[in-house]
Amino acid sequence: MPRASSIYRCQQCGFASPKPGTCPDCKRATGELTPLVEERAAPAPSGRRAVVTTGTRPLPLGEIVMEQGDRTPIGIDELDRVLGGGVVRGSLVLIGGDPGIGKSTLLLQAARALARVTPPVLYVSAEESAAQVKLRADRLGIGGDGLLLWAENDLDTVQAELDSIKPRALIIDSIQTVFLPALESAPGSVAQVRECGARLMTLAKGRGLATFLVGHVTKEGALAGPRVLEHLVDTVLYFEGEHHHAYRVLRAVKNRFGSTNEIGVFEMAARGLVEVPNPSGFFLAERPADAPGSVIVAALEGTRPLLLELQALVSRASFGTPRRTVLGADYNRVCLLLAVLEKRAGLPIGNQDVYVNVAGGGRVVEPAADLGVVIAAASSYLERPVPADVLVLGEVGLTGEVRAVSGVEARLRAAAQLGFKSAIVPRSNAGGALPLPVKGVATVSDALGALLG
Ligand code: TYD
Ligand code: MG
Repeated sequence: MPRASSIYRCQQCGFASPKPGTCPDCKRATGELTPLVEERAAPAPSGRRAVVTTGTRPLPLGEIVMEQGDRTPIGIDELDRVLGGGVVRGSLVLIGGDPGIGKSTLLLQAARALARVTPPVLYVSAEESAAQVKLRADRLGIGGDGLLLWAENDLDTVQAELDSIKPRALIIDSIQTVFLPALESAPGSVAQVRECGARLMTLAKGRGLATFLVGHVTKEGALAGPRVLEHLVDTVLYFEGEHHHAYRVLRAVKNRFGSTNEIGVFEMAARGLVEVPNPSGFFLAERPADAPGSVIVAALEGTRPLLLELQALVSRASFGTPRRTVLGADYNRVCLLLAVLEKRAGLPIGNQDVYVNVAGGGRVVEPAADLGVVIAAASSYLERPVPADVLVLGEVGLTGEVRAVSGVEARLRAAAQLGFKSAIVPRSNAGGALPLPVKGVATVSDALGALLG
C-alpha cells in the first residue's frame, strides 16, 4: 500500500505520481521503463509557511538603478565574457558538463581569481576530500589567502557557517552530492537536488552571494536531476569538449545577466585550463597543405567567428550499403548535402563511403557551413585540393541553390586576419565593401566550378 505522505518520482525527468510504478513520460520519450522512487514528504511546517521577502515595493522602471559594483569581472576573460562581463552579485550560476571534463578545475581557477578581487571565497567540495582538492590546487599552482576549502556535504552545516565566514562568493561542487538532512531521499535524488537548489537560491539572493553550482550531465546530455534546477538558477553554462582533445568550450544556454551567444574557449594543459583567445589559430594549427577534402569554414559563435577545418574522405564502398560517418557536424544535414551534391551537381557519390570530420574536435552546426561540406566531399571525390587560402561560406538548399548567410563581414574579417586571400560566398552576400575579395556563387555547381574546375 502506498503511504499517504509519499510521492513517487522519476529520477530521470522528475515526473511525480501518488502511486508506485514506472514513469509514463520516459516510456513515451525513450521507450525505457524507469522505476519511480519513493519520496517521503517532509513534515509540513506548522502554521504559516516561512516566507522570504526582500522588503521591496514596486518601482517605476526609470527609478531602478543597477548599482555600480553589482558585476565583478573575475579576471578570466573567457569566463567573464560567457557570464556577460563578470559575475553578478547574488546570482546563481550552474555549470554542467560530463564527468572529468574539467568543471572542478575551472571553478577552482575561478575561485582563486575571485579571491583576489572579492575575498573570501568559499569552495565547498562535496565530492572530493580537502586533500584531493589541495592536490589539484597544488597542480594548478594555487596557494594563498582568501580562498577557503571545505569538504562538506551537509548544506545546513554550510549555511550555519556562512555568518562567521562571510564569503563573497560560494562554490558548491557538486549540487548532486550535497544534501539537506531534513529530506529522507538520498543526495542526487530529484527531491534533494531541487530543495538544495532552492535553498542556495535563497542564500544567494538574501546575502548577495555570488554562487556557482557544479552539475553533472547524464548520458543523454541533460543535466542530471530535475530540469527545475535549470529554471531556478540565473545562468546555465555547459562545459563541453572531447576527452581526448585538449580544447574545451564554455557555452551559456541561459543567462539572465547577459547574452547566450557567447562562448569561452580553453585548453586543458598540464597545469590547468589555459585561455585560448584566438581559437581559430588553435583549430587551424595542424592543417595539411594542399590535401584534397579539406575546406575552411567560418562558424559564428556569438559575436566571435571561429574558423574551422572541415574534412571529408570519400572512397569506394567495399561492399553493401555505403557508410556515412560524421563527427562534429549534424549527421542528417550531411546526408542531405551529399544527396544534393549527387543529384544537383551530378557527382556519383551514392556508392561511396563518406566520412566527414571537423578537425581538432571542433563542432559546427550552422547552415553557413553547408557549402563547406559539399566542397570538401567533392574535393575528396575528385582528388583535387581546394586552395589553402580560400574560405567557403554558404547555406545549401535542396535544389542546389546557395543561400545567404548572416554575419558575412565578421566572418571574412576573421579570415583576413589569419591570412586568407579570398572567399567563396553566396551571390546575395557578395555586394558591398568586404574585408576580403570574394566570388559570389548562386548554385553548388557554380561553387564547384570556381574552386575545383
Ligand atoms: P576535473 O576538473 O576533476 O573534472 P570534473 O570536475 O569536470 O569532473 O578535471 C579532470 C580531468 O582534467 C582529469 O582527467 C585530469 C585533467 N587535468 C589536467 O589535464 N590538467 C590539470 O591541471 C588538471 C587539474 C586536471
Ligand atoms: Mg569535479
